[in-house]
Amino acid sequence: MKRILIVGAGGQIGTELVPHLQKNYGEDNVIAADLKPQMVEKLSKIAIAESVDALNAEGYAALVKKYKIDAIYNLVALLSATGEKNPQLAWQINMGALLNSLNIAKEFKCSLFTPSSIGAFGPNTPHYKTPQDTIMRPNTIYGVCKVTGELLSDYYFTKFGVDTRSVRFPGIISYGALPGGGTTDYAVEVFYYAKAGRDYTCEVPQDAYMDMIYMPDALEATTQLMEADPSKLVHRNSFNIASMSFTPEEIFAEIRKRCPDFKHTYNIDPVKAAISASWPDCMDDTPAREEWGWNPKWNLSRMVDDMLLHVLPDALFGAQ
Ligand code: SER
Repeated sequence: MKRILIVGAGGQIGTELVPHLQKNYGEDNVIAADLKPQMVEKLSKIAIAESVDALNAEGYAALVKKYKIDAIYNLVALLSATGEKNPQLAWQINMGALLNSLNIAKEFKCSLFTPSSIGAFGPNTPHYKTPQDTIMRPNTIYGVCKVTGELLSDYYFTKFGVDTRSVRFPGIISYGALPGGGTTDYAVEVFYYAKAGRDYTCEVPQDAYMDMIYMPDALEATTQLMEADPSKLVHRNSFNIASMSFTPEEIFAEIRKRCPDFKHTYNIDPVKAAISASWPDCMDDTPAREEWGWNPKWNLSRMVDDMLLHVLPDALFGAQ
């Protein structure tokens, strides 16, 4: 059985990827690592947890050696809106963690998954049914890191044979752990407000279409791609994956169908407005469907039902 290391495991994706991988590969074969002590503490309740600074190559490599790791999932990244507040730090963290992951994967012959994002696209990308292979000139530091990461990961595959694979995640919607600092975060936060009976103030323009995905589909995509037959992969870094695309008005209307008293208003953040306008409205994911069988199961309506069922407002507001 494969032994897996997840770095940056305490965040929105890692919190749910850890149990998902445990189910697929066995509890003892998944090592969850994070930099922040409170995250390591939280992870230690569900998995073998380790403290690691992904920017410290020696410590990172020691962990891979200690557990005889076969596959690395590198989830370390500052998201788009946070990145714009401190671009140098975003570059340092996002690229530092990726470069170390690539070099360690090369040295220890591990496969490597690093998420890319809709943020890899930019204002002059075709926005409707954005093709897999198209113009990519993002104007955020997050996007610049993602495009660079895609290119570097493909380079390590062709030059050194490192088994690198990746998907361009849409905004991920989930109730396990809150995202932080992303432009798509509104589509998660709003559920906490609706369920707590509070009004929600949205910072993203009402008509901004962006691709979104529900966490179960995001997890399935990750493991499906990592298990895909390499001979079928024409692309590697990174695949468009799509399942739903909506505007703030559309998701708020779906929520209001179930919570008739829910109210929202807008206080537009110009940075988030510019970022959302530069990203695709909806991506074409044909290559992912053809090359490794991507087939999402969740749509907007079912996702809203499930989120409202599971979200615990206390996680955001404390006990009411
Ligand atoms: N969810 C991310 C963000 O909004 C995009 O991948 O930054």
